[in-house]
Amino acid sequence: MKRSIRDLVDLKGKRVLLRTDFNVPMDKVGRILDQTRITAEIPTIRYLVNQGAKVIICTHLGRPNGYEISLSLWPISLILMKYFPGKVQFSQKTVGDKVKQQIESLPDGSIILLENVRFHKEEMEDDPVFAKELASLADIYVNDAFGCCHRKHASTYGVARLLPNAIGFLVEKELNAIQDAMDHPKRPFVAIFGGFKVEDKIKVLKNMIDIADTILIGGAMAYPFLVAQWIPVGLSPSRPECVAIAEQILKDAQAKGKKIILPVDHVAYRSDDKKHKPFVTDTLQSNMIACDIGPKTIALFEKEIRGAKQVLWNGPLGKYEDKEFKNGTMKIAEIVASSKCYSIVGGGDSVSAVNKSGKANMISHLSTGGGATMKLFEGNSLPCIEVIQEKII
Ligand code: ADP
Ligand code: 3PG
Ligand code: MG
Repeated sequence: MKRSIRDLVDLKGKRVLLRTDFNVPMDKVGRILDQTRITAEIPTIRYLVNQGAKVIICTHLGRPNGYEISLSLWPISLILMKYFPGKVQFSQKTVGDKVKQQIESLPDGSIILLENVRFHKEEMEDDPVFAKELASLADIYVNDAFGCCHRKHASTYGVARLLPNAIGFLVEKELNAIQDAMDHPKRPFVAIFGGFKVEDKIKVLKNMIDIADTILIGGAMAYPFLVAQWIPVGLSPSRPECVAIAEQILKDAQAKGKKIILPVDHVAYRSDDKKHKPFVTDTLQSNMIACDIGPKTIALFEKEIRGAKQVLWNGPLGKYEDKEFKNGTMKIAEIVASSKCYSIVGGGDSVSAVNKSGKANMISHLSTGGGATMKLFEGNSLPCIEVIQEKII
């Protein structure tokens, strides 16, 4: 069992570097669409504040290429201020002397949010010098960034090796809920995959064949699978390397007697239509871009979900942010919520979509992890949890 923040003693006045995952969904103009990942973190922050620690929060947002103003964490600091009035500061830098000075003058029981750690490319490289710089800001490291525990980066992995460390309440809660569903899956077990991070997640899907009984695929994840079956996808995105993996997955599923269900109709628009007027179609012609699953697909998916005892869902089934293309995701959210199965929904956008459907309170476990949750289901350990010290009993 890993050491938890409850096991840390004498936190008063201690500088605690708290890695969170505040990688929240944003709209085109930089407004936060869903605050679940922030609110899920409040118990850990409150605990540290109440213990009198100086809480140094570090997170990433998006996948910036150097500094990008639209991915600054300033708006997130405003949300934190609502929960902890008069106790939150924002640092425009992530590391360096100026940050150190700001931390030095931070009153005990207060919070400082560091600027987006991914503005430094060294973060993603798990650069040891950068990890050392982060470590020099604090006395203790707490990892509560469940959603990025599969990323071996400087702020999630490298720095943990340099400081006394522990996991936070959110990581603890996620591990308990997911471990149970993995160790004792209720069958039939239906996995639903969608979303846009196809290259990342298609590899996870490969291993899911052994775990789930049926796999439903929608969103941008579906296109390489359709192409692998020589079904035209028009201009919908599909990379050749993903098509090759999809082909293998379809063969494996057939050999193992597992069902994979793909979209049979779509909500699409024509690329030469400036208004992107949506229409339902069974076949995607060369000038069409599909952005949602159609009604026949929803009915096929519903049948499987209604018969399931456990459902795991990652990735919206269409561009749910646009009202023209949200129907598939909203309908599936309603079906999952109203079915009697044990349901786990994971991923920043997936949780945001379920919240939008108004059915979030009917989901058994809403996970803040997307890729991280999938990795656990694959049976892999998460490197950023592994690196945390074991609890001394
Ligand atoms: P999560 O955050 O839940 O892990 P992802 O980040 O992988 O999910 O994917 C979410 C994104 O996928 C959303 O921004 C959504 O608009 C996009 N998406 C889903 N389906 C499609 C599609 N058919 N075409 C384009 N984008 C899609
Ligand atoms: C997520 O949203 O899944 C995590 O925050 C990790 O983000 P990443 O896929 O950009 O590393
Ligand atoms: Mg996402």
